[in-house]
Amino acid sequence: MEGEAGSGYTFAVVTMSDKGSRGEREDSSGAYLQERLAAAGYTFAAYRLVPDDLETIVETLVDLVDALGIDLVVTTGGTGLSPSDVTPEAMGRVLEREIPGIAEAMRSASLMKTDRAMLSRGRAGSRRGSLLINLPGSVKAARENLEVVLPVIDHALEKIKGGTADCGALP
Ligand code: MTE
Repeated sequence: MEGEAGSGYTFAVVTMSDKGSRGEREDSSGAYLQERLAAAGYTFAAYRLVPDDLETIVETLVDLVDALGIDLVVTTGGTGLSPSDVTPEAMGRVLEREIPGIAEAMRSASLMKTDRAMLSRGRAGSRRGSLLINLPGSVKAARENLEVVLPVIDHALEKIKGGTADCGALP
């Protein structure tokens, strides 16, 4: 299956949750994503549980990419419409290049599951040689959205890192 190639690219999971960061809620989505990405062949490198705070999120994402050089950074939560949801605003300060098609594909596929998919403002893009993707916060939403993008992550990373392989030649 596409996206199950076991690329060995490193990944980080970042959960945005005020309650989770205070220890008032178990981070099921973060745990799920770590398991799923490892099963898909990516190498676990870091996990962060942070509050819905713009500066903290920006600092966390920049650190994972610039200092640790992690290839794939997947976030969960904070993409919605609550006043506290600031993940997309943080991405605006972190991304060097937006990849609108990834977010469009996730919302489009998710609309087949729930009308509420249109309420996620999640974004995706690149910084340096890394790919960053926002997923919504619930386990169900995170799972459904991740499955949409898994098949293209390896090819996206190959391209972001300057790979010259023909598009048709890669899975
Ligand atoms: N996408 C999928 N595939 N499945 C879902 O259940 N839930 C939606 C949406 N995207 C959902 C989904 C809901 S209810 C919300 S409010 C938004 O994601 C934003 O979620 P977040 O604020 O937890 O990031």
